[in-house]
Amino acid sequence: MAGFHAQHGVLACDGVALDEIARVAGTPVHVYSAALIAERHRALDAAFAAYPHAFHYAIKANATMAVVRLMRRLGLHADANSGGEIEVALRAGFTPDQIVFTGVGKSPAELERAVTIGVKAINAESPGEVERIEAIAAARGACARVAVRINPNVDAESHRHISTGHHGTKFGMSIDEARVMVREVGRRPHLRVVGLHAHVGSQITKRDPIRRVAEAVAGLARELRDQGVALEHVDLGGGLGIAYRPTDVVVSPEEYAAALLPAIQGTGLSLVLEPGRWLVGPAGVLLASVVDMKRRAGSGWFVVVDAGMTDLIRPALYEAWHSIAAVAERPGPRIQADVVGPVCETADTFGVDRELPPTEVGDLLVVRDTGAYGAVMASNYNRRPFAAEVLVDDDRWTVVRRRQTIDEMLQGDL
Ligand code: LLP
Repeated sequence: MAGFHAQHGVLACDGVALDEIARVAGTPVHVYSAALIAERHRALDAAFAAYPHAFHYAIKANATMAVVRLMRRLGLHADANSGGEIEVALRAGFTPDQIVFTGVGKSPAELERAVTIGVKAINAESPGEVERIEAIAAARGACARVAVRINPNVDAESHRHISTGHHGTKFGMSIDEARVMVREVGRRPHLRVVGLHAHVGSQITKRDPIRRVAEAVAGLARELRDQGVALEHVDLGGGLGIAYRPTDVVVSPEEYAAALLPAIQGTGLSLVLEPGRWLVGPAGVLLASVVDMKRRAGSGWFVVVDAGMTDLIRPALYEAWHSIAAVAERPGPRIQADVVGPVCETADTFGVDRELPPTEVGDLLVVRDTGAYGAVMASNYNRRPFAAEVLVDDDRWTVVRRRQTIDEMLQGDL
């Protein structure tokens, strides 16, 4: 079975014991399972097999080059959210026609780059941005392919920090605005409107918002088609949630397809999706060493590990819950503990009141489901270097991103 499972009493990734990885690569270290990513991609792909579709992996979820290259090997395309992610996609081997470029506030340099290489679609966020794209394309005698990002005013019912599809958020334009704009720019020689785009949020665990977005975007696509506007695709972004807690109820790939496809089929257009978290989230853990054990006031323990909010900010930023487990369980009565990092913030806490096996300094713990929005959101706060990253692929494990050295961290300081 792909992923993280105990093997002879030690947690392993695709059969490779995590204590072995920790011994050689050091901690903290992010560990990813290529086999689990491939397995999850197959499941998602199978759910949409009945309809023409393309998955553009949302690079932002995990932008480590080896992971992005793996996505290309698996046959996905790419969704880039910045000039930096466009370069990651190109260096990972994606061709420009496999890249969609999304994001609020694209800079002139980023738009220049996207127009010059000729991406599959620039997902345009505002009428002003469409004008700027056209000006760049005209100056270069090019024709830019644009998809219009719609804000359908659908509440994703996710955490408020990552819900992006209701009016009042900075994302996309209203359906009314989009309708007028598409008609206006329809005949301009340096622009080609090829699609409609929407992404209403991340970690969506309900079917209803997914269905409502599909219906809203498909409705506009049909309307435009009836007016003679020939689009190529509908892009419904990412957002499919994962179960962080064993008790979490989430939307399965089949339910996801069933929520989207009825509306999209009526457009006759191919479907683009931009999955991120669903593919990589469960395929990664943050592996850390216990560096101190302190008594909590009252009862229980603080288990202090060498990873911090600088390596995984989700608990601090969204009060996100991640499962925490010992790599090798010691026998004996279990303890109650807050698992915390070394950063000078009380928010630097991975879990409160967790039940753990007896724990000693030097033991290894994992924080689970950190493959998405883990390493990629790391910072050097407290002047902490970035952790190493390891990919287990085909029974072999490789450091795919070296631990940052103090010198590397400081080299930009003049
Ligand atoms: N497409 C667009 C335009 C997006 O903005 C995003 C995520 C995705 C696709 C991928 O969504 P996913 O399938 O991964 O849900 N840092 C937050 C999540 C931020 C998501 C931002 N946009 C977290 O740790 O929960």
